[in-house]
Amino acid sequence: MIILFANQKGGVGKSTLSVLFSNYLSLAKNRMVTLYDMDFQRSVFSKANAARITDNLPLYTVEAAELRQFPAILKEDKKDHSYLRIIDLAGKMDDDHLVPVFKKSDLILCPFCYDEFSVSSTLEFSFVITQINPKVKIVYLPNRVKTNVKYETKQSVQNALGTFGLITDSISERIDFQRITTVDIPPSLLGVIAPIFESIYNEYIEPVWHKMNT
Ligand SMILES: Nc1ncnc2c1ncn2[C@@H]1O[C@H](COP(=O)(O)OP(=O)(O)OP(=O)(O)O)[C@@H](O)[C@H]1O
Ligand SMILES: [Mg+2]
Repeated sequence: MIILFANQKGGVGKSTLSVLFSNYLSLAKNRMVTLYDMDFQRSVFSKANAARITDNLPLYTVEAAELRQFPAILKEDKKDHSYLRIIDLAGKMDDDHLVPVFKKSDLILCPFCYDEFSVSSTLEFSFVITQINPKVKIVYLPNRVKTNVKYETKQSVQNALGTFGLITDSISERIDFQRITTVDIPPSLLGVIAPIFESIYNEYIEPVWHKMNT
């Protein structure tokens, strides 16, 4: 199964949440994961390297890959569909090599923020994606949500994005998200992200797994 963390808007939490989601699938669900860092900034891959230096046992493989290496990068021996491949993409859409990635993906996890520019980019992105792959499931994760701010447009944003996919509960703006690693989930963040990840897992990942094993 191929799961993308994608949005053409930068800085919405794609890389951060791709790491935490991979940690969660490994630790809480005991699933085999490979996390592909397909962003030239390599923020995920450098996190994995940093964890290696401090001698932590890796939970899963993190591979740095170029977009043009897709789908060859999904190695032969990992063709097994029970394998979860998580791909972290860059926050831009101007590369034709993205098309096969979008076409092959089963699920797109799309973090966004409730500000004006993030929402319009996210809608534009969703429109393009559904043209390329009408069957793909999209889940929107409102991220960096400030608890003391009243988002006037929240309901209209939810209505607009809701035509493309499901919207999860909000993930709050918290400093601890800036210190995450590829080896664990900080206990302080578990309560925030576990229910959201659990619902995504139960709705979109577990059923595929179940179908293959029955
Ligand atoms: N919920 C959050 N609370 C506080 N900081 C956050 C949160 N989510 C992400 N961040 C921080 O926001 C910054 C951008 O996050 P991240 O790099 O994950 O975004 P991105 O969408 O991958 O960006 P890019 O498009 O540049 O790849 C990082 O410094 C990250 O630590
Ligand atoms: Mg990123």
